[in-house]
Amino acid sequence: MRVFVAGAGGAIGQRLVPQLVERGHEVVASTRSREKVDGLRALGAEPVVMDGLNALEVGEVVARAEPDAVVHQMTALAKMGNLRRFDKEFAVTNELRTKGTDSLLAAAEAAGARRFVAQSYTGWPNIREGGRVKTENDPLDPHPTAQQLESLAAIRHLERAVLDAPLEGIVLRYGSFYGPGASDPLVELVRGRKLPLVGSAGGIWSWIHIDDAAAATVTALESHATGIYNIVDDDPAPVSEWLPYFADVVGAKPPRHVPVWLARVVAGEVGVSAMTRIRGSSNAKAKRELGWQPRWASWRDGFQHGLADEERAAA
Ligand SMILES: NC(=O)c1ccc[n+]([C@@H]2O[C@H](COP(=O)([O-])OP(=O)(O)OC[C@H]3O[C@@H](n4cnc5c(N)ncnc54)[C@H](OP(=O)(O)O)[C@@H]3O)[C@@H](O)[C@H]2O)c1
Repeated sequence: MRVFVAGAGGAIGQRLVPQLVERGHEVVASTRSREKVDGLRALGAEPVVMDGLNALEVGEVVARAEPDAVVHQMTALAKMGNLRRFDKEFAVTNELRTKGTDSLLAAAEAAGARRFVAQSYTGWPNIREGGRVKTENDPLDPHPTAQQLESLAAIRHLERAVLDAPLEGIVLRYGSFYGPGASDPLVELVRGRKLPLVGSAGGIWSWIHIDDAAAATVTALESHATGIYNIVDDDPAPVSEWLPYFADVVGAKPPRHVPVWLARVVAGEVGVSAMTRIRGSSNAKAKRELGWQPRWASWRDGFQHGLADEERAAA
């Protein structure tokens, strides 16, 4: 297939492009940054520069690429800061998920593309009631924190738009990424003991190794499946388990313990919820219907052996 990857210069894109090339696809890879063009070419793609928030430019660049399929991996999370201002930190990502998705879908359709694969997220958007693990049939959170209202609305918009579009649309709700190019901010926080265990630390997280997320994307692209799929590992786990383990793996001191009231003051409701209330996600549907399974079935193994590329780890 001729595949247009929008946002190929990010954490997932850089792992996805080589897998697509390896499978024999022709890849047109978009970035906003001229300095990433040579790197994308070295991965085997035909690089293009595109601003995902400029609908005219998106239309022209996608039309020139004449893709059979389009993959939407555009986010703007590289400079994530304070969780207390979650929606503000996510403002550009939210625009990419609303206006950016609409433009890319329109461009894909006009260019005659058959399939559209879009990045979504699973974790904090899950309903925070009932069982500890949610499926794609469970509702998204009807009462998100006040700081995440816009971000959840953007996710809903993206998913609805992709499923309603007049081409084969599939939404991949990736869990929390880790692995080469995806773990540095977390390592820094944990090494600096800036990520404490809050209260019972019973919030459930679903992790996914970045290479498994990329492999699931290739599988989704090559299938005829449409709809929403969680792309997470087999081992949803509370913060009280994964955080001390992660700290140990990266050679950090054990995380501090902080009471809920103090965390609320420092990290706000989003931080408290992520540590104590969020639910994990099931990958049963993706395994069953896409025939995909994660190589790193548990973050336990993945944190230990998959955080960095082998050469980097050896160095
Ligand atoms: N599920 C998850 O847990 C999840 C999901 C996404 C990201 N993250 C994390 O967030 C951090 C940052 O992510 P990242 O490295 O992928 O960087 P990012 O800044 O989120 O960028 C992702 C891609 O979107 C592109 N992009 C951003 N703004 C754009 C715009 N206006 N128009 C067109 N394209 C645009 C970027 O362009 P350039 O090529 O020019 O940079 C890049 O190719 C990483 O640690 C990553 O692991 C986690």
